[in-house]
Amino acid sequence: MEPYRRHIVICTGGYCAPDRTGRALYAQLARLLQREDLLFGPQRVKRSETPCLGVCAGGPVAVVYPEGVWYAPVTPALLERIVVEHLRDGRVVTEAVFHRLGDGVTPAP
Ligand code: FES
Repeated sequence: MEPYRRHIVICTGGYCAPDRTGRALYAQLARLLQREDLLFGPQRVKRSETPCLGVCAGGPVAVVYPEGVWYAPVTPALLERIVVEHLRDGRVVTEAVFHRLGDGVTPAP
């Protein structure tokens, strides 16, 4: 199996985003990863969805590994920035981060 460079997980559950906008984001993510040529090769990204990431407010919530960077609330515009700036170019979208793995708990958005 070709290795992945990063893994993004989007919550598609109904507690952090009662209108479940995470579902549309997950579909948008597939298109963006293809557009940015991130499905294969050294920058390859794994895309996953989950019914809950344990935050359950202020979503939709997304997390990117291996950096352990948590984003919320993720809009379609922010998702595009995450894909281009973080997943493709390796620059965290700092102003949209509410938690980083290992930094302790920070306030939810
Ligand atoms: S339902 Fe989205 S984090 Fe729990």
